[in-house]
Amino acid sequence: TRPYIFVTRKCSEQQLQPLYEIADVEMWPEEETPCPRDLLLEKAKKADALLTMLSDSIDKQLLDVAGQLKVVANLAVGYDNIDVHYANDSGIVVCNTPDVLTDTTADLTFGLILATARRLLEAADYVKENQWKSWGPLLLAGVDVHHKTIGIVGMGKIGQAVAKRATGFDMKILYHNRTRNEEAETKLGAIYSTFDELISNADFVVCLAPLTDETRELFNKDAFIKMKNSSIFVNASRGAVVNEVDLYEALINNEIAGAGLDVFLQEPIESSHPLVGLHNVVALPHIGSASLETRYTMMNLCADNIASVLKGNSPKTEVIVN
Ligand code: GLV
Ligand code: GLV
Repeated sequence: TRPYIFVTRKCSEQQLQPLYEIADVEMWPEEETPCPRDLLLEKAKKADALLTMLSDSIDKQLLDVAGQLKVVANLAVGYDNIDVHYANDSGIVVCNTPDVLTDTTADLTFGLILATARRLLEAADYVKENQWKSWGPLLLAGVDVHHKTIGIVGMGKIGQAVAKRATGFDMKILYHNRTRNEEAETKLGAIYSTFDELISNADFVVCLAPLTDETRELFNKDAFIKMKNSSIFVNASRGAVVNEVDLYEALINNEIAGAGLDVFLQEPIESSHPLVGLHNVVALPHIGSASLETRYTMMNLCADNIASVLKGNSPKTEVIVN
């Protein structure tokens, strides 16, 4: 019998074509609402493969009922939504989509830096709301990005791609990472710093670190107090690396000057959330890798990984944890 594959969100059938050739493929038909948990559990029971989103929790409960499951391909580079250890112990391969989204995510991250520093959303609203009366010397004046200091927390591939962009803006680049990134140091002049050195010296503190036990709530009250009052915090990794109550207080108490956020503790974040209402917060709906080219490429990679595992071969991008 043909294998059964469940895709937890509407994807492009064209990109998943290799799967339709080898298996019965079923897809949750909606783009903007997730597959309900009950249905996901039911589908997981008979699935040989799951193509999942970062919004699906692939936990012990799900893995325990998934008796046929051989591979979970997550349409994301991050995999904090998956209990990878438990999956591997159950003989299930977990795959992600690294590399293919690096430059796209770095572009969005740099866009958030610029949008927050130069108040692009406030300025665009100003025009759309017909408030523009005249050119003014300090009208919507933001702060410069060029020649400032960027501090990148999490110098993996995306961090390094952000650092590369920063060189074009003549920025001084500090970074903090679990391990030294020699390439970023020699090629881009990035300077390794302790976390405290970085947050106290950077004008832009940019988080691109994965969510782990070490990074959960790394950005808390203590951290925001150590940052310069003029600094801007940018987060394009996972919301849970931040204590959002502490961030809100830091913003209203002028401990920091602004925040550019693509990710939140609870996604979707509601427009009534106190953070979203602040004029100096730019909030985006987790669109780091959201270019058409990259999302199609990510779908292709997920399909390729699933097909490889079902054929008994090694997938291109398996998540390896120790
Ligand atoms: C997006 O956040 C991803 O992990 O790809
Ligand atoms: C601004 O447009 C200027 O000419 O300074």
